[in-house]
Amino acid sequence: MSGLLGRPDMVFVYDADEIEKIFRQEEKMPFRPSMPSLNYYKHVLRKDFFEDCAGVIAVHGESWYTFRSKVQQVMLQPRTARMYTGAIDEASSAFLKRVSKIRDENKEVPANFLNEIHKWSLESIARVALDVRLGCLDDDAHVETQELIDAVIVFFKNVGVLELKLPFWRFFNTPTWNDYVNALDTIFSFATKYTSLALSRVKDLSNNEELSLLERILLQEKDTKLASVLALDLFLVGIDTTSSSVASVLYQLAQHPDKQQVLYEELSKNLPKIDESLQAHHLDHLRYLRACIKETLRMFPVVIGNGRCMTKDTVISGYRVPSGVQVVFQHYVISNTDKYFPKSGEFLPERWLCDHNAPRHAFASLPFGYGRRMCLGRRFAELEIAIVIARIIQSYKLEYHYENLDYYINPMYTPNGPLKLRFVERN
Ligand code: HEM
Repeated sequence: MSGLLGRPDMVFVYDADEIEKIFRQEEKMPFRPSMPSLNYYKHVLRKDFFEDCAGVIAVHGESWYTFRSKVQQVMLQPRTARMYTGAIDEASSAFLKRVSKIRDENKEVPANFLNEIHKWSLESIARVALDVRLGCLDDDAHVETQELIDAVIVFFKNVGVLELKLPFWRFFNTPTWNDYVNALDTIFSFATKYTSLALSRVKDLSNNEELSLLERILLQEKDTKLASVLALDLFLVGIDTTSSSVASVLYQLAQHPDKQQVLYEELSKNLPKIDESLQAHHLDHLRYLRACIKETLRMFPVVIGNGRCMTKDTVISGYRVPSGVQVVFQHYVISNTDKYFPKSGEFLPERWLCDHNAPRHAFASLPFGYGRRMCLGRRFAELEIAIVIARIIQSYKLEYHYENLDYYINPMYTPNGPLKLRFVERN
């Protein structure tokens, strides 16, 4: 596809073998074209600050590589993520309390339930990244916390408009753009404040299990700027990705009571009681839960496509694709194709269990991307989603009694419409 206003030529790839080939020969610094508006914020508007340390989102080349090399190990080690099981479980308990409070007399949650899920997601990431209890799910959220929540909501809303509609903001300061910049400034000053607090604590700390992610990074790198910039990136992409996934898993389970029942039985065997704290080992045997999450992300990947900008001429499906062209991997289409997943339109978590004998193409469903630029928050996202879903299904039977919801891009791929789920206690 060529000739799109303000965009380079693009090639769409629908073949998992070709995607595998491209990923397997990826270079040291893969270039993922993304978020021009954030790129502008970091590299033009706030250049003075971000110049020598811009993070990973909307950053490329040496600058991306240096930053990612410093944080990669702490972020992606499954062992590290498991240490946050207790903190994430606490955020999930707060969410469950909130659910019981906001249900109506018919046990249904309000139409804007996705917004409540966003708050849970923000609470979880703040616990993990900054070791802060924001209290997002409390009735009397603190003023500063409410400002952060509002800023994150404005960011979500406006980034979709700026990235997916005609880019007027490139020519003049539109109201959407001004609000977006203010929201980014708010999130960033919040991240900076808590990084400084973490730094003052770190002076007296040795490496132990109680450290927040930021404290871990500070202890290793002794660089407050790096830690604040990382916190900003985690807040920007770590909230609505996770919350849209949770919304989707809940909706699918509500639509498939038989699968929900299998999951409930697995949880009953493996989880401690709802008022007892969850340990990492409780999650080790939850195979069906993991399968439900994978199946939802196969059918409804929150990031529907991913891409790389070719930095050298490359042959794809026998065609020479010149350097500079954007290659877009159509993950949503591929993972919903019978060629790769027989009966692809059916919600079948069983297909992900290892005793299921159908062979699977490893590159046909890649919800977290792949390779050197793979999702940096993957381990935390998987843990957060698993814990909150496990705790919800342990406590409630989910039902949905309205017309089927379509999905739309918001900017994550999300069920469109009031998510009026019914939460029925299980005892
Ligand atoms: C279900 C939830 C999530 C999904 C489906 C998801 C998906 C993705 C995808 C597809 C990418 C691009 C990967 C690539 O180019 O190969 C990505 C990148 C990224 N994600 Fe996630 N993500 C999720 C949650 C999170 C969370 C919770 C965080 C932070 C705590 C996070 C942080 C990041 C970062 C920092 C990058 C950029 C990595 C880089 O360019 O080096 N993500 N994510």
